[in-house]
Amino acid sequence: MENTGTIRLGNENFEFPIIVGTEGEKALDTRTLRAKSGCITFDEGYGNTGSCMSDITFIDGENGILRHRGYPIEQLAENSSFLETAMLVIYGELPSEENLRAFRQQVRKNSSIHTGMHSHFDGFPSGAHPMAILSSMLNSLGAYYPEMSSNDREQDLAHFDETAALLISKVRTIAAMTYRMKMGLPFVYPADKRYTGNFLHMMFSEPYNEYVDDHGAGKALDLFLMLHADHEQNCSTSTVRMVASGGANLFASVSAGVCALWGPSHGGANMAVIKMLEEIHAAGDDGSRFIEAAKKGEAKLMGFGHRVYKNYDPRAKILGKSAESILESIGMEDPLLDIARRLEQAALEDDYFISRKLYPNVDFYSGLILKAIGIPVEMFTVMFAIGRMPGWIANWKEIAENPKSRIHRPRQIYTGSTKRDYLALDQR
Ligand code: ACO
Repeated sequence: MENTGTIRLGNENFEFPIIVGTEGEKALDTRTLRAKSGCITFDEGYGNTGSCMSDITFIDGENGILRHRGYPIEQLAENSSFLETAMLVIYGELPSEENLRAFRQQVRKNSSIHTGMHSHFDGFPSGAHPMAILSSMLNSLGAYYPEMSSNDREQDLAHFDETAALLISKVRTIAAMTYRMKMGLPFVYPADKRYTGNFLHMMFSEPYNEYVDDHGAGKALDLFLMLHADHEQNCSTSTVRMVASGGANLFASVSAGVCALWGPSHGGANMAVIKMLEEIHAAGDDGSRFIEAAKKGEAKLMGFGHRVYKNYDPRAKILGKSAESILESIGMEDPLLDIARRLEQAALEDDYFISRKLYPNVDFYSGLILKAIGIPVEMFTVMFAIGRMPGWIANWKEIAENPKSRIHRPRQIYTGSTKRDYLALDQR
């Protein structure tokens, strides 16, 4: 194969190297294009732009493939756990038994937050969105660990292992405390439990009544978190890399990631899916009216479509099955699951969705699992953030460890006024 490619501008040819990834993906390396030709590439929404080289996650959207560090998501879902997958994503290898035990211990040791931070919760109104609280609290957390949030790369990296375990642990505690604060309930301190068991305990135990997980909620939640662990250069991860590229510490970078995740086109879609299913249910519709509205461009079928997947999102397949089994184990019949199945079937047979290659994405079924566990809809995107933490951390590490990494600074095509002279106030 040719290892260079040519761009012709007017009568001039410009040659550029072609970069090939380990899975055969190709990119024309146009980094010198502007210096050579005065021209830049224009790619609003970055659908055609490789922003980095990364070893972490591989997606083949055409064929519905997702692998972390080479391991297929289906194998991880079948055999691994959230914390083990987190270590794989962050450190590049499946951990030994001893390393996994040590990591679990680090996570457990870090599960409570500085009592000084308890008062931060008092400053938020009870109507505050949990994502606003989460991103503020993660950034504030850095202030309690100045040695880990110095913005000096060498120093921040020297504390990396500790910071990674601390963030994975405390994001879960902050999430549970956010829920308790909003409900006007007393905080529940972490106990000596596994990762998701501890989260459910901090969410749902009462001083007079310990939460008992007798329907496999912890296991379902662990799978949910694992399936969200990383997804290469999505909106929030690219934000984390952008912030990290300026030299910012890990706390600040992941806090920015939470803000980027919040929107309904990204992580906020899991809330929007349930709202959509509830609306369809309340209207007594079978979903066909909603599909017709989506086809006319009046609404979006939430949980459908993806920038990269032009096939079934492999995570949605796994979560669809998991939603069924958790509902069955609880003995709960959720009419929203039936609506989701009908909607999926109708969309997959409809020409509008077929021609645009719109398939269910990770958010289509995830909300039904969270709802079955008892997590309120407003907390759904926070749950996504807990799951995505390993991916954000791994991507921050890639930037911080790369001595050649440059600040991310795209260019633009200016379309505003050309030069004009300032007018005094009385002349306007
Ligand atoms: N419902 C109806 N039509 C859709 C949908 C949808 N969910 N998604 C895309 N389309 C249509 C678009 O209107 C467009 O149609 P056109 O060619 O006639 O103009 C075509 O499909 C291509 O869509 P784009 O908007 O160009 O796709 P893009 O890659 O920019 O957006 C996105 C991807 C944001 C995920 C989009 O599909 C969407 O909004 N989906 C619903 C929200 C959602 O589920 N988000 C979660 C994504 S996964 C994640 O972040 C975890």
